[in-house]
This record gives sequence, C-alpha cells and structure tokens, in this order.
Amino acid sequence: MLRVLVMVSGGGTNLQAIIDSVNTGDITNAEIVGVISNNYGVKSLERAKNAGIDACVVSPKDFASRAEFNDGLLAKVNSYKPDLIVLAGFLVVIPEQMIDEYENRIINIHPSLIPSFCGTGYYGLKVHEAALERGVKLTGATVHYVDKGTDTGPIIMQKAVEVREGDTPKELQQRVMEEAEWKILPAAINKIANNL
Ligand code: GRF
Repeated sequence: MLRVLVMVSGGGTNLQAIIDSVNTGDITNAEIVGVISNNYGVKSLERAKNAGIDACVVSPKDFASRAEFNDGLLAKVNSYKPDLIVLAGFLVVIPEQMIDEYENRIINIHPSLIPSFCGTGYYGLKVHEAALERGVKLTGATVHYVDKGTDTGPIIMQKAVEVREGDTPKELQQRVMEEAEWKILPAAINKIANNL
C-alpha cells in the first residue's frame, strides 16, 4: 500500500480529486496518510478533515528563518513516512535536502504542457494569462517528478485542453483543472502505486 502525503497551499481541488479517486477505486494500492499546508485556514484543510485525513500546517510565518522552516517542514514530512509526496498546488520552494531524501518520490501538477509556460513566476492564473497572451490553441496540464529545478523534472503524464475564443484566464484555468489536472494527477498516482 503506497503511503501518499499531499502538500497543499489553497483550495485543494486537486487534493479532492485524489481523495475522490481513492474512494471510487480509480486509485488502488494507495492511501493518503497526511496533508500538509503552508497556509492556515485554507479549504484544503477542510477537505482533509471531512475525509478523515490527518492534516497540519507548517507555515514559514512560524519560524525565525527560512532554514528553520525548511528543517521543520522536512521533519513533519518524515513523520508521515511517505512513499510518495504529491505537490498539489503547493507554492513553497521544496528544500534541496528534501529533494535529496525523496529523490524520484516527489511529483507535482503544473497547469500547462511543460515546457511551455513553466519555470519561475509561472503559477496559478499567471500560467493561463501567458497562454492566452501567446495565443496558443492548446494548453493543458503536466504531472512531473520534482528535481532541483523549477518544473524541470521528468514528465510522467500530460493532457491537452483546447483554448476557446474569448476565454478569460479564470475560465481557462477551470477547464484545465476539470479536464486535465483532476484526471492526470490521480492517474499518475495510480500508475506509481501499481508500477504501471
Ligand atoms: C492549480 O491550478 C494547479 O494547477 C496549481 O495550483 C492550483 C492548485 O489548485 N499547481 P488547488 O489548490 O488544487 O485547487
């Protein structure tokens, strides 16, 4: 049974997709052992609680320095003894020591078809604003392993989504989440959990 730790920062719709997929059997051989948020009071924490999943907050605001936050975050991660760490909208830079300790065991969902619209500064709505600005006809989402770069690790899964005439960034973000993110993130976890 793969022990999955999910790290979040906000609304948690990707976390919810994972929870739902475990419940429906679209993800097998895996259990969500915990949720870590870097923010207090976000909907992700409510979603975890409603699903009976242990959740906690490790906030940079609670530490005197970034180095102490990094140590605190890694200690909390280790306490769950995860086999796989899933960054589901987690907007904090992962400490290098954590990437070393969990090499090839951290995955991330990014809301574009990497290598387009990714890297430093491309997160959340900014990704979709850039896609609309460029005028691409197809965008989508990518699940990739996390390495020491930004959105640079090996790609696991991608799904394309059409851009429609007149899309706003918000409308495009919603379509990418519904049609791509919420499908390929659970599918990637299932693939890893079952060595597919
Ligand atoms: C999503 O847009 C995802 O692509 C990005 O961060 C956002 C997370 O949303 N990584 P949610 O917290 O899962 O709803």
